[in-house]
Amino acid sequence: MKLIIDDADIKKIKEIYEFYPADGITTNPSIVSKTGRPPYEVLKEIREFIGEEGDLHVQTISQKAEDIVEEGHRIVAELGKTTYVKIPVTQEGLKAIRILSQEGYRTTATTIYTPMQAYLAAKAGADYAAPYVNRIDNLGANGIESVKVMQDIFKKNGFKTELVAASFKNSQQVQELCAYGIGAATLAPDVIKNLVFNPCNEAAIANFKKDFEGLCGEGKTMKDCE
Ligand code: G3P
Repeated sequence: MKLIIDDADIKKIKEIYEFYPADGITTNPSIVSKTGRPPYEVLKEIREFIGEEGDLHVQTISQKAEDIVEEGHRIVAELGKTTYVKIPVTQEGLKAIRILSQEGYRTTATTIYTPMQAYLAAKAGADYAAPYVNRIDNLGANGIESVKVMQDIFKKNGFKTELVAASFKNSQQVQELCAYGIGAATLAPDVIKNLVFNPCNEAAIANFKKDFEGLCGEGKTMKDCE
């Protein structure tokens, strides 16, 4: 499962990349707007930092297929041919996904709430489909189970489309889908950090340090002990 950062704040992105094995960035219009900066300025900075091989998913705004396609052309012209054009799944969005995919562009179908929306995105040729785990839960449905059904649909129908699940609120949601073998999870920086921090290993590490210093002296490590 790829580990993607769902944020456009370059400071947070750099911090995550320093410590975690991240594979790329997803953004949406709300995430970009939080930076308060011109979108292409922000996105070019991200592209420059992650390089051509880093996954970058950038969302379109238009409603009509022809306009979405034009946005896709501009996004890729500005940010490079490896960029995924992220398109909300509507009737027009499905048409745009089909056109851009046939033109050889990489596409990510987004705002997915149901398995059949994911199925249609895959049929239209999307490289990725982005279901919203926590937002599905908030509708009274089951986000994790819905994403598992989407994964089964893709695998049993032989689609090449992978899932990039989004809208996670906790480690347990991430773990369940990681164990199920989905293609990617895109997580807010805080959710990524919570995958490693827990009071039990903090306590265990403190105890190891105390025992070692009892033997070798305060501040000593394997670098400078006798
Ligand atoms: O791109 C969609 C994703 O960012 C949604 O996450 O936390 O706003 O539900 P959230």
